[in-house]
Amino acid sequence: MHDDTPTGLRSNLTSYGDPEFALFLRKAFIKGAGYGDDALDRPVIGIVDTESGFNPCHGNVPQLITAIERGVMLAGGLPISFPTISVHESFAHPTSMLLRNLMSMDTEEMLKALPVDAVVLIGGCDKTVPAQLMGAASAGKPAIQLVTGSMLTGSHRGRTVGACTDCRFFWGRYRADEIDADEIAEVNGRLVGSVGTCSVAGTASTMAAVSEAMGIALPGSASPPAVTADRMRIAEATGTRAVGLARERLTIDQILTPAAFDNAFRVLLALGGSTNALVHLAAVAGRLGYALDLEAFDQMGRETPVLVDLKPSGSHYMEDLHRAGGVQRLMLEIRDQLNLEALTVTGRTLGEELADAPAPFPQEVVRPLADPVHRGGSIAVLRGNLAPAGAIIKQSAASPALLEHRGRAVVFEDAADLAERIDRDDLDVEAEDVLVLRNIGPVGYPGMPEAGYIPIPRKLARAGVKDVVRISDGRMSGTAAGTIVLHASPEAAVGGPLALVRTGDTIALSVSGRSLELEVGEEELVARAAEVADRVRDVPQRGYAKLYVDEVTQAEEGCDFRFLQGNEVVGSVPRRH
Ligand code: FES
Repeated sequence: MHDDTPTGLRSNLTSYGDPEFALFLRKAFIKGAGYGDDALDRPVIGIVDTESGFNPCHGNVPQLITAIERGVMLAGGLPISFPTISVHESFAHPTSMLLRNLMSMDTEEMLKALPVDAVVLIGGCDKTVPAQLMGAASAGKPAIQLVTGSMLTGSHRGRTVGACTDCRFFWGRYRADEIDADEIAEVNGRLVGSVGTCSVAGTASTMAAVSEAMGIALPGSASPPAVTADRMRIAEATGTRAVGLARERLTIDQILTPAAFDNAFRVLLALGGSTNALVHLAAVAGRLGYALDLEAFDQMGRETPVLVDLKPSGSHYMEDLHRAGGVQRLMLEIRDQLNLEALTVTGRTLGEELADAPAPFPQEVVRPLADPVHRGGSIAVLRGNLAPAGAIIKQSAASPALLEHRGRAVVFEDAADLAERIDRDDLDVEAEDVLVLRNIGPVGYPGMPEAGYIPIPRKLARAGVKDVVRISDGRMSGTAAGTIVLHASPEAAVGGPLALVRTGDTIALSVSGRSLELEVGEEELVARAAEVADRVRDVPQRGYAKLYVDEVTQAEEGCDFRFLQGNEVVGSVPRRH
């Protein structure tokens, strides 16, 4: 932006062929809503309102908007909120991931269309923050992220519980007949203690943490729970700072630099965060022309132990992390591994902000580097003839005994096949087998649902089996745990090798060797590929679903649409040292 760029209500005028008339008309309409001339001369701060009756994770958005507006007006700006679509994990058929790119397009186009000098993005539930960062990165205006904050934990028969690691834990016990229908119904009312996002290191918490690490959200803003005074004060401060961003014209590309992405990946790993964040960060980076370097990420993982004792890799909840000092406490612990010169939305560097962070005190949630929760890095990148473009495993949430494993493949063709057969008593499956689920990738499902967390077959669960090796081209919730290989790329639906596996084949997984191999001869695989290529697949023929399958990229490119990515690749992240 140049200094003579129109600001406030004068920006982004509607094209009537007469700019003065366009402004005259715009003011006439908004004055009809009760605004006076003084208000209309102020910097305009847009507030993206993602409240929805179908999104309990955003249930505090009205209160947040009030606090943001207060902050904006205290700083002399004019706050104006406007809606975009809002996506909740459990209220999005067939999967929220299908709608993430739509929400990013909605966000981008509204930011481009409206006369906002800066914008506060209120996100929270898994896909919303990625969608907003993708859209805002493409729109290029000054932007600041505010997350809704985590929900409170609940209590079930004396045990602290929280969504959604404990949802899965208790559901697993119910499937194994360890608890009855009455108890699972009771648990259902205990898991979610309030509005807000999932209370463990799932995707929402991870994206909140990486937003703070990237400097696109205020220092200390990731961890306050949704219904606390801390959360409201952060909202007020976010509104105030948005006015500064507008006045300084501090655009998002000055914040989301390669140094900022390095910090995001580092915090993702040290947090033991969600594997989904890797896909989302690839998509956000891709908007700015940075390609994800999986090898550099794997190398970073080898140097970055998991320090935060949060479920599902550990034992605490987000509210515990907040009391322990939040993401700043974590970043102080890995200070030497961060790019401290990265600029944040405060206008100061990350290093300057950390120097002013609250002094560390004894606590049990963020461990010191010398005593990590998991030494090996939380997410490892695998390659091999089953995933030539990569696959990942969250090794910190896996069973150590299964990280090096050879077993017989038991193949499920798609999610429907899995649902039909997984609980049958006649399913031919043993604890040492490797469960393979295909056609749940970006194109295959479509939308790459979180179906990679293949349930333990009921007959094995009843026999006490808690974990088996599972492989898919899908994703898994950040709240889930197990020895689960995800994002196998290219996916089966676009001809990836997962399509060639047959029940009875042998698969070898070596996390230490970073390999995933199908032990079938090359000649046989070529013959199978020819057979698979002849199969006709059902693909959407209209509407957004058609756009999605026509344009979506694979996991390592963030599952973004090709036409939304940056015009050219200008670098890769994380950077190699
Ligand atoms: Fe919204 Fe988990 S369902 S954050």
